[in-house]
Amino acid sequence: MNWNSNLIQNLSWSSEIINAAGKQKVADQIAAKVKDGDVLGVGSGSTVYMALLAIAERIRNEKLKVLAIPTSLEISMFCSKLGIPLTTLFENKPDWLFDGADEVDPDNSLIKGRGGAMFKEKLLISSSAVNYIIVDDSKVVKKLGTNFPVPIEVFPQALLHVEAELKKLGANSIVLRPAKGKDGPIITENNNLIFDCYFNEIGKSMEQDIKSITGVIESGLFIGYNLEILVASND
Ligand code: 5RP
Repeated sequence: MNWNSNLIQNLSWSSEIINAAGKQKVADQIAAKVKDGDVLGVGSGSTVYMALLAIAERIRNEKLKVLAIPTSLEISMFCSKLGIPLTTLFENKPDWLFDGADEVDPDNSLIKGRGGAMFKEKLLISSSAVNYIIVDDSKVVKKLGTNFPVPIEVFPQALLHVEAELKKLGANSIVLRPAKGKDGPIITENNNLIFDCYFNEIGKSMEQDIKSITGVIESGLFIGYNLEILVASND
């Protein structure tokens, strides 16, 4: 059934997309990989959005049948707007996935989660055999934590406990992420809160150390995952 609602058709990416030249190049590389029948894991963020635009064009022109498993409500709605049918992890596993990142280090470890969707992003990356991370060259760093904090999704009642435990792990700055354009903290799609944390040092065990704190749902650290990184310059 096609509801053809203007509510979804009128959706657009409202914030400015920075470093759009590099993002467009990797978005196009991703669109070129799509094959008829693919089930795609779809990450979140502006680079992913640009890839979806390019994929939707191929679907229209080549009549490809593709299904998408999205990692956020925002991306689900964009898929619907663009005519890319959705499925879920109940019914399907992604054949492959694409997602953006906030930082990529020389070991292909990542910081993600500026959009707050890292729990579902990690779930889908873990469910998919092939994962492409698409970034412009501003995201490449020597050391994680250079430009972005590590986001950590926290069960609300565990806030103070988690804060105390993160300090023991060497967190030197812990900020409760504020809501955009209104008072109070941001609330995730899972009804939790987000800490943005800087650490003195991010070692190999940090992702597991954070995850083992009771009350932590997930962090935006991705260390040692099976990822292929596609980087494009902004020149
Ligand atoms: C959202 C993410 C995004 O992939 C990351 O923030 C990159 O975003 P963009 O492509 O807009 O630079 O992890 O949770």
